[in-house]
Amino acid sequence: MAIGLVFTGFIIYSLISSLFWLPEFGVAYEVEGYLSPFFSPLIAPGLLPPWFSPAILVLWIPLGFRTTCYYYRKAYYRAFFFDPPACAVGEPWFHRRYAMERKFPFILQNLHRLFLYLAFIPLAFLWLDAFLSLRHHDGWRIGLGGVLLFVNAALLSGYSLSCHSLRHLVGGGLDCFSCDARTRARHGLWQRVTGLNRNHAMWAWASLASVIAADVYIRLLAIGLIGDPALRF
Ligand code: FES
Repeated sequence: MAIGLVFTGFIIYSLISSLFWLPEFGVAYEVEGYLSPFFSPLIAPGLLPPWFSPAILVLWIPLGFRTTCYYYRKAYYRAFFFDPPACAVGEPWFHRRYAMERKFPFILQNLHRLFLYLAFIPLAFLWLDAFLSLRHHDGWRIGLGGVLLFVNAALLSGYSLSCHSLRHLVGGGLDCFSCDARTRARHGLWQRVTGLNRNHAMWAWASLASVIAADVYIRLLAIGLIGDPALRF
């Protein structure tokens, strides 16, 4: 229940934040050199009609990446569909035949690897946003907003680099890890990704929290409810 509620809350919050806050309530997604992670990279904001949020052009990548994630699939199949409700607990009576990922729409979960490749594009821009936030008004600053952007980029990097599909990509499809220099290099990479992969669930929830925290902070800053404590030099 907790997983179902938190995941549903994240989806609802991200849709409201990215689609409605600016056109409906006039709450900016970019303030003081900080850009909300939902809107990064910012694509042609001046060219779009006011009712069309630029986040729509980007958000489908991280949302698709998360909803097709192997860990989240396990978690929300249990939470939303009772499929299965828990380890060693049988299917409920209303699941007459198990077809889940062999039929539409769940067969689309197989797109996860493609979402992984795409997810590195906004991730690179999130790092860029974090570094750009250090430069402000012809000077340098280390603000709380910038710290949140760096933490968010780091946690999302941990989440992406611990992906099961990436682990297969770097170490899968080989019969021999020690045969030549190339397979030995892949083995080394596979071991590193495997180390991160052991904590994939932690990366998943921590990065979810950091995206929300960075977005909430920037929105509160935009409406003047909080200030941005910063070291300036
Ligand atoms: S398995 Fe979770 S991001 Fe790929």
